[in-house]
Amino acid sequence: MNINGHHFRTIWPAPEDKQSVCIIDQRQLPHQFVIESLTCVDDAITAIKDMHVRGAGLIGATAGFGMYLAAIKASDHDVDAKLKEAAMRLNKSRPTARNLGWAIERVLAATKKVSEGAEKKKAAYMTACEIADEDAAFCRQIGVHGLELIAAISKEKNGEPVNILTHCNAGWLAFVDYGSATAPIYAARDAGIAVHVWVDETRPWNQGAKLTAWELQQEGIANTLITDNTGGHLMQNGLVDLVIVGSDRTTHTGDVANKIGTYLKALAAHDNNIPFYVALPSSTFDWELEDGAQIPIEQRSGDEITSISGMNDTTGKVATVRLVATGTKAVNYSFDITPARLISGLITERGIVQANKEAIHALFPDKKHN
Ligand code: MRU
Repeated sequence: MNINGHHFRTIWPAPEDKQSVCIIDQRQLPHQFVIESLTCVDDAITAIKDMHVRGAGLIGATAGFGMYLAAIKASDHDVDAKLKEAAMRLNKSRPTARNLGWAIERVLAATKKVSEGAEKKKAAYMTACEIADEDAAFCRQIGVHGLELIAAISKEKNGEPVNILTHCNAGWLAFVDYGSATAPIYAARDAGIAVHVWVDETRPWNQGAKLTAWELQQEGIANTLITDNTGGHLMQNGLVDLVIVGSDRTTHTGDVANKIGTYLKALAAHDNNIPFYVALPSSTFDWELEDGAQIPIEQRSGDEITSISGMNDTTGKVATVRLVATGTKAVNYSFDITPARLISGLITERGIVQANKEAIHALFPDKKHN
């Protein structure tokens, strides 16, 4: 992904000595582009919990590097114990994205295969890097497969722009590179297909307004910001050709947890016969849960609803203001479940698959499932 013409990933080990890990502090976007350095597992936990980084793929990659930071801070005889403790603490940093636990388990498995402390540290580093590289490669493949959907619609429309609606940020910023929902859009642009994106603002954290719109702007993709309530109206009026969203956790039966409000978009798409696709790498599948209702749904502070932050153009500073009367109570569910029956298909790194157990198992026979 290019920012002002320079290619960035969203996370990378410090090139000088690899003793720290660099991230982009997403709380500051789109007003400031700030690179933050994580030097220990506590920094990684804070970054995930307080949403300096966010999005399923990037949460997983940060957890992988957090495990590495825990390993290098340990003395050589103590690496396993320190990794176990780090795993427990990282696991609690956010509940919904499956990639978090998946990445932690992957580092633990790799470090258990070797016996010396120094080898364990090396294995943690190699695995964290593999997780990040694989995330980028898988998102790129999601782009290749998702492009087919956009190309078919473009052909039907005789090259008129394809209008794609997306919710939240399942873009580059939610992964290591490319994004999941955005990868097909970038691939379409690269193939010379005209696209336009409707960006849901995604209250209360405003990932759409603050991140997706900025990201698409940086990449020169035509986009228009809308309130979360606008999608249904646009769909009824023939202004949406396709919906592509991401996922934080998808059961192996095809139910999708994604940012709160996704379910309402799926209902509206269903009612208007508009294809509704979910783009996700295989690291987001939960191979144990049978039913979306079993997915843990994060509840965050009501303060995210009762106040809002943004640039004060007079002072040139970012400020937070209260939106409501003092004492207003707010409840803040961060995710909802879209049942498989409302989903046209899942766009994965291996191809597009129907959102049902048989099809998902057939595409991923090598994964451990129930
Ligand atoms: O709370 P967040 O920002 O970590 O939520 C995750 C998301 O960005 C979305 O739900 C996204 O659509 C899926 S994550 C790739």
